[in-house]
Amino acid sequence: MSTIDKILSALFALALAGGLIAWGLHASWWAGLAALIAVAILGIWSMRDRKMLKVMARRETQLLDQQRQVLLGQHQVQTALTEVVEQQREAVARTASIASATEQINATVDEVAGQLTQQGGTAQDRHDQVLKTVQDGTQHLDRQTRNHVNNINRRLGYAREEIEAQQYLQRRIDTGTLWPSTGDWALNARSAVYLLDLLDQARPQHIVELGSGTTTLLFGHYLTAHGGRLYSFDHLNHYRDLTASYVSLHGLEPVVDLQLAPLAPQVPASDTEPAEDAEPPQWYDLSQARLPEQIDLLFVDGPPAATGPHARYPALNALADRLAPGAVVILDDGVRDEEQQIATRWAQEHPELVREAPDLTAMIVLRKKG
Ligand SMILES: C[S@@+](CC[C@H](N)C(=O)[O-])C[C@H]1O[C@@H](n2cnc3c(N)ncnc32)[C@H](O)[C@@H]1O
Repeated sequence: MSTIDKILSALFALALAGGLIAWGLHASWWAGLAALIAVAILGIWSMRDRKMLKVMARRETQLLDQQRQVLLGQHQVQTALTEVVEQQREAVARTASIASATEQINATVDEVAGQLTQQGGTAQDRHDQVLKTVQDGTQHLDRQTRNHVNNINRRLGYAREEIEAQQYLQRRIDTGTLWPSTGDWALNARSAVYLLDLLDQARPQHIVELGSGTTTLLFGHYLTAHGGRLYSFDHLNHYRDLTASYVSLHGLEPVVDLQLAPLAPQVPASDTEPAEDAEPPQWYDLSQARLPEQIDLLFVDGPPAATGPHARYPALNALADRLAPGAVVILDDGVRDEEQQIATRWAQEHPELVREAPDLTAMIVLRKKG
């Protein structure tokens, strides 16, 4: 209870008590005054209560307003929070989608990186291959160049030796006339020098030559100087005539008997079994030939290899019986496999023929014992 209420209660109690006392004393005026005061106090109380109620109602209203404001504020906060939450949810969703996109990008980057690595590897392989091919090619070119240079040097050396041999030949046989070729199809100059030395040492009187050409002149000049006769055979009319022209030019007819002996099928030796479809070997037909009884030197330089396999092999079948004791057999083109085989067979089939050590030329020399 407030102080005012306590005072009013005390005054009301006094007024009531005074009224009662006055009433008991029959002091009606005082009693009426006390009653009036009491009523007035009741009126004050009543007014005061109404006021209080109004104040309270106002406060209530204020409180309600405040609560409403608070609720409104709370609602606004809640709405704001909801919005924030929504925004966060959207942000999370966006983050998730960004993460997923990032993952895809990463996967793509990985894939592309893999492909690039693979392509890089392939490109490196190709580069290595190309490099190796270029290196191989360069080495091959180097080898080829070295081979060419070696060949050129060899040929230059060969040419120098040929020139020197030619000079020697000119000093030995100074004819002042034209000579057919040396080398190529004919005996080269170095072999010619060797042949002259061999003639000097063997001193043959009767020479048989198979395959005419430059050697025909060589033998002719030798025999002119030392005496004797050359029986030269060629299977082709054209070359027989060509050689004959040179023989005439060099004035060698007195010592050179140049004859045409076309190739003809030969009867195979009795101990050989020719294949059924094999062509019969071709060799010079010497049935009409003029030949010496004794041959001191047999020079086998034909028929050409192109006329058949082992084209020169039949020479000894036809002429071995005429070889004089100590006779020399020369097989030219001895660097060829075929000529090597022919010489081996001759030495086997004619034990009286001894093969001499190889010389510096392409000629194979066999000498008959005696
Ligand atoms: C290997 S050659 C050798 C000729 C000869 N013994 C010489 O060394 O000078 C053999 C054949 O060549 C041919 N021949 C001859 N004179 C020739 C020439 N001027 N050109 C091409 N071939 C020729 C002839 O048919 C001869 O039988």
